[in-house]
Amino acid sequence: MRKVIIAGNWKMYKTQSEASEFLMKFISQIDEAPEEREVVLCVPFTDLTIVSKSLHGNRIRLGAQNVHWEECGAFTGEISANMLTEMGVRYVIVGHSERRQYFGETDETVNLRLKAAQSSGLIPILCVGETKQQRDAGEAERVIINQLKNGLVGISQDKLVIAYEPIWAIGTGETCEVKEADRVIGLIRAQLTNPNVTIQYGGSVKPSNIDEIMAQPQIDGVLVGGASLAADDFAGIVNYK
Ligand code: PGA
Repeated sequence: MRKVIIAGNWKMYKTQSEASEFLMKFISQIDEAPEEREVVLCVPFTDLTIVSKSLHGNRIRLGAQNVHWEECGAFTGEISANMLTEMGVRYVIVGHSERRQYFGETDETVNLRLKAAQSSGLIPILCVGETKQQRDAGEAERVIINQLKNGLVGISQDKLVIAYEPIWAIGTGETCEVKEADRVIGLIRAQLTNPNVTIQYGGSVKPSNIDEIMAQPQIDGVLVGGASLAADDFAGIVNYK
């Protein structure tokens, strides 16, 4: 059975007080959502403590946005898997397009981060997706298949989530046509050996398009940026029909 996972990615937004304010409004709004829907918040490192305290005893799972491959060492600005698991983190985003684009992540570093996450018991959310230029050149499929092939070397498909995020749809308000997102996710699934991997769609997901997205047969969940920052919007997404 493929698990439905609705994950928010706060990126570099929200101080601790803003995070608490969000949770106060958000938690009570998702009581009615079916229990089997996993709700994850991937928050900045500085919010992990406060969010993990406020989540104690409720259904939200804690997530981070990156993890280094070494257990410790002279890696200024990085964070290790053990530092995250000790705080109750269950999920970690790996290879987000913003990391690839602005911070030089490659399929090789993504692969190392995936390995480190899994060996500490974290469930990585591996992000893949093409740029507008690649799509227009008819290269989307090749790019995605390569990201998967190189990123997943030696990675278990048991504790793994994949997010298909076409880069041109991230933060632009321009959602990928749902049938096309579903088709690409089917293609991603065809590259995997485990048929039960949850594959999410990400890119301008909002309360107004979530029902249509989740109605697609291949799409098992969503990774939400902008619309996960407002409690009402993210609750609207979690409570999809
Ligand atoms: P968006 O971001 O929902 O703001 O488009 C998605 C993401 O970057 O994961």
